[in-house]
Amino acid sequence: MKTTCATPRKRPSVASASKPPAATVQKPRDIKQIIAINSTFLDEVNQLLHNGGVLFEKRIDVILALIHSKFGDASFSSPLITDDTLRTALVDIILNTTISKEELFQKVFMFYGSKYLKKEFDQFYTPCTIGEFMCGLLEDGGKAIDPACGTGDLLTHYVGRGRVHLWDISPDVIELAKQNYAFQGKDGVARVRDSITDYSVGAGEYDYALVNPPFGSKTVITNPDVLKHYVLGAGKKKQELGILFVERSMNLLRDGGAMAIILPNGYFGNTTAAFVELRKYILQWRVLAIIKLPQKTFARSGTGVSTSILVLSKTRADGAHYPIFIDEVVDIGYELNKKNTPYKYKKNKTEYVLDDGGRPVLQNDLYEVGRRFAAFRRGEMGGCQSFNTADLDEECILDISRYLQGYKDIVENAAGKQPISAFLAEEYSCAFKRSDDTEYTYLDIKEINTPLYNGKKLLGHQLPNRAKYMLKKNDILVSRLKGNISFTVILEDKENLVCTNGVCVLRPRDEAAMLTIFANLFSADFKVQHQALTTGSIMETLSDEDIKNIVICTVVNEGKYRKILDSVKTIQEEMSA
Ligand SMILES: C[S@@+](CC[C@H](N)C(=O)[O-])C[C@H]1O[C@@H](n2cnc3c(N)ncnc32)[C@H](O)[C@@H]1O
Repeated sequence: MKTTCATPRKRPSVASASKPPAATVQKPRDIKQIIAINSTFLDEVNQLLHNGGVLFEKRIDVILALIHSKFGDASFSSPLITDDTLRTALVDIILNTTISKEELFQKVFMFYGSKYLKKEFDQFYTPCTIGEFMCGLLEDGGKAIDPACGTGDLLTHYVGRGRVHLWDISPDVIELAKQNYAFQGKDGVARVRDSITDYSVGAGEYDYALVNPPFGSKTVITNPDVLKHYVLGAGKKKQELGILFVERSMNLLRDGGAMAIILPNGYFGNTTAAFVELRKYILQWRVLAIIKLPQKTFARSGTGVSTSILVLSKTRADGAHYPIFIDEVVDIGYELNKKNTPYKYKKNKTEYVLDDGGRPVLQNDLYEVGRRFAAFRRGEMGGCQSFNTADLDEECILDISRYLQGYKDIVENAAGKQPISAFLAEEYSCAFKRSDDTEYTYLDIKEINTPLYNGKKLLGHQLPNRAKYMLKKNDILVSRLKGNISFTVILEDKENLVCTNGVCVLRPRDEAAMLTIFANLFSADFKVQHQALTTGSIMETLSDEDIKNIVICTVVNEGKYRKILDSVKTIQEEMSA
């Protein structure tokens, strides 16, 4: 695997018209206009073609010619565009976009491809900047495969640098992939194939595999005749497709080959047996990198699943201890919280950052991650984050959150700190037996308004199943969900006060311990640890044990937090009066 980062985008070549338009191309626009065009170019082109009377089904030919003219040698010409003003306006738009060729094609294809081919896209396709990054990891001249290719976009940046093979189980999807590559004038061998059932086809033939497999607990294989061919499937009633794809992708590689695969974070951190087994399987091989992607990476495809890229070499690790490169990506070049995830550009305070060609630079950490990974592979580890396989415990947790520097700085610098468990009562249990006719005050997660709480009066038979814990004075409740951490403290002994098992109940050994824990819940260090220890792919949570292991300062500003507690108590009493 190569160690340089993603290929830089080409400087757009300005097509020289063989039959120059009568009107001259407008001068390049200012940076804000370019940024606006990058977001709206397809709508604008579409509108111009509509106004120019070009039928919808003919428009794609014009747009493809337009894009090819931008990146090729030929000037833009189309028999459908005879009006010079329209021609000039179209050329003006395409010349002023600074989007990469692959991304332009992906956008056009997603918009027109499905309409022309009358096929719906129901897959989670990977944002272009991630495909660009993953292809940037590969050496030129290799043979690469995507065995669950969708429209094949993960490998488009490798075409021209190496051979590309695409497999997908769906004939419709393969038709789309072929059409996509044809649109782009790219070569790739696309085949309809069930990569999992055809478990031996292509084994050992590839230098690289780039994969974003289908995953999720409902996407499973149950056929024993298929499962028996997989180390991670044999003897099981079912196995997740995503897990089988890890093994199958390894099987497709030649010795010394490498893969980069996008997997849900639950695979890296869940402690259930299937995932521990998967990690043990992975660790037989040399893990090169684990790169955590932003939670909303796949927002455009309508899924909030949080994922990481695993880079794995088909080289036996043989129990060796070695460092694994890790990194966390915040930005991938798109506004992931906004509808249709428009581009996100780098700014220096208020000014856009421009590259040598005067084009706006995407706010895309993957460029830097690529550079850091390259340096790490060369042995220049300063400025890079890593963890050593010697530090893995029995569960082989590979979720990188707990190995990142911010978290390590807190837990490794343990002076004046102790785990929360040191402040708790010994072996307490909050379980209770509900009685149908008894009235309870029930606290759901929604009832916790940090640091206050409300509560609903419910009879025993009305309590939801998740009402699991009976509370006492001084109990502290902390949510186990990633994100804004809700917490509260019970300041009075109240009969039949119960709460959801969506929170962890911390029962301090005395009042002073309660104050110490309570004070620490406001600290940044607590938040960092809470976030770092969450695992899972959709609802990222942490276990009670993890919360109890969070380290907190033993000395707190007692006066300040006592005052806060007094105020909380007063407000609580006022509210329940
Ligand atoms: C999440 S999409 C990824 C698409 C593409 N690689 C990307 O990243 O944009 C997963 C793809 O796997 C395909 N797929 C599901 N099961 C498969 C199997 N057993 N063999 C081959 N492809 C499969 C689906 O049809 C879908 O196109």
